[in-house]
Amino acid sequence: MKGILLVSFGSTHERARKEEIDAVAERMQAAFPDALLVQAYTSGMIRRALAKRGVEVPSVSDALDEMLAQGVTDLLVQPTHIMPGDEHGRMLDAVKEKQGLFARVCVGDPLLATDADVAALVAIVGDRFSRAADTAVVLMGHGSENFANVVYAALDYRFKAVGRDDVYVGTVEAYPSIDDVMERMAPHGYARVVLAPLMLVAGDHAVNDMAGDEEDSWSSVLGAAGYETQCFVEGLGALAGVQDLYVAHARSAWEA
Ligand code: CO
Repeated sequence: MKGILLVSFGSTHERARKEEIDAVAERMQAAFPDALLVQAYTSGMIRRALAKRGVEVPSVSDALDEMLAQGVTDLLVQPTHIMPGDEHGRMLDAVKEKQGLFARVCVGDPLLATDADVAALVAIVGDRFSRAADTAVVLMGHGSENFANVVYAALDYRFKAVGRDDVYVGTVEAYPSIDDVMERMAPHGYARVVLAPLMLVAGDHAVNDMAGDEEDSWSSVLGAAGYETQCFVEGLGALAGVQDLYVAHARSAWEA
């Protein structure tokens, strides 16, 4: 029996869970109707917070046990991670521990694992936010100490390469920072900035660090610098093109 384990970091925001994580799961299930689809969250903090509300989402390890008990032999693990960073590595370790219990195990790529993925995401997000006069689009990635973090600068570079010099990519926790982005925006004299997360979900980072009222949120910092800001609190998982990219990664892993 075929099974798909969809692995996400997780979120405690109900709207984000539904529209940006479950939406990917639904697209995946529709693409592989014969497979048993199970979701896991890797964040223990998020799983515990959800459990207090009566929402049980298993860890990778528990989900694999559950799938074995249900008779899954042919397993596909598909992460919703953005890049092959630390979260992704920990997921691979957890899968490795139980791998021998299945007849076959394959693992799909995260959203961005190849140059073609970077180009695909640039096209999808470029379509979502079309160019407007005197307006820059600033995308907020998460950012990581992992070397995979270079993908954010690569995305920024590729937006420019396809003629979208109005699109900038920054991160909350790593390089490029919002200061780096603002420095590069400054000579262009934009009046307005459209802000959106470059994350699977629009959770705490999007709500607080991007769109929040605190003076160090990106919206506030850009506002203080004289830009009029408009925030889109919507994660990548809500975009059909992104859901399809995960499905394509799942399909190529399974058919490999
Ligand atoms: Co974070």
